[in-house]
Amino acid sequence: MTHRNATDAVSVLTADHESVRRLFSEFEELVAAHAGDAARRALAELICNTLTAHAAAEEELLYPAARDALEDDFRIDQAEGEHEDMRTLIRQVRSLGAADGRHDALVAMLASVVAAHVRQEESDLFPRLEFTSLDLDRLGEQLVRRRTEALLLLAKAGG
Ligand SMILES: [Fe+2]
Ligand SMILES: [Fe+2]
Repeated sequence: MTHRNATDAVSVLTADHESVRRLFSEFEELVAAHAGDAARRALAELICNTLTAHAAAEEELLYPAARDALEDDFRIDQAEGEHEDMRTLIRQVRSLGAADGRHDALVAMLASVVAAHVRQEESDLFPRLEFTSLDLDRLGEQLVRRRTEALLLLAKAGG
């Protein structure tokens, strides 16, 4: 059994995944409740920012470390490609107002692309990291710092 801290890389990223899942289900509830455009737009923007910050932290810190430690380019190339698909959808969501008929469907599509990617990370990539010599505690702290920094920048840019 691996010793696990709440702030190690896998715990930090898994907790992020969980909060994004919650945001997507809140979005579904807003759609079901016929919530107004401003509320749906604001939540969609929060989802986009949360995903963008998470992906940046993974790409800059986790993926390069995992690529080295696992000596596995294929898995990491695939994960980066999935982030690219996610970013394309994020750009499309951001380019539309919530009044546009395609907005909510694109958010739903983003939710399923993200869900598939998250399943892959949690069931395949993260478990493999436990068997490497990576310092997951230190990496976790760096990920939190990087993600927070990215979120602040995005909030500033949006505000
Ligand atoms: Fe990822
Ligand atoms: Fe992730």
